[in-house]
Amino acid sequence: MLVRLLYASRAVDPSPDAIEAILSQSRQHNPTCGITGVLCYGGGVFLQAIEGGRSAVSDLYGHIQKDPRHKDVELLHFEEIQERRFGGWTMGQVNLTRVNHSILLKYSEKPELDPYSVSGRVSFALLEELMATASIIGRA
Ligand SMILES: Cc1cc2nc3c(=O)[nH]c(=O)nc-3n(C[C@H](O)[C@H](O)[C@H](O)COP(=O)(O)O)c2cc1C
Repeated sequence: MLVRLLYASRAVDPSPDAIEAILSQSRQHNPTCGITGVLCYGGGVFLQAIEGGRSAVSDLYGHIQKDPRHKDVELLHFEEIQERRFGGWTMGQVNLTRVNHSILLKYSEKPELDPYSVSGRVSFALLEELMATASIIGRA
């Protein structure tokens, strides 16, 4: 039983080192519990998709919600899935400051990451677009 969960949060420390530490911890841990996904960040905001078994995703989200490195954790979307969308990434990354603004503008009022003001479906559409434009790095 595979599921996908999307959430948004605000970084407490948006420095590159802090984000790198989160990614490296994720890439080390996720293969052991079959989690794949993508972490986007821009303007101090995270948008993350995690996919995997229902128990593994639920357990990880429980840990993530308690992590003091971010705040305002908000669930955007949760669904049962037949197949993974980000199966090639133990945790892909997208630094949105390096992404063409037109991609962000396509899904929101301003060319910035604001998952708090759009639907979960729109945030997922943005992730799909980032994948289609090869903006996700860190394939493992
Ligand atoms: C934005 C963000 C994304 C995270 N993504 C993951 C992830 O994909 N996989 C993971 O194992 N930990 C991730 N973490 C770290 C977890 O919150 C947590 O530190 C880790 O699961 C270890 O939990 P524990 O310290 O309670 O044992 C993330 C943390 C933050 C702040």
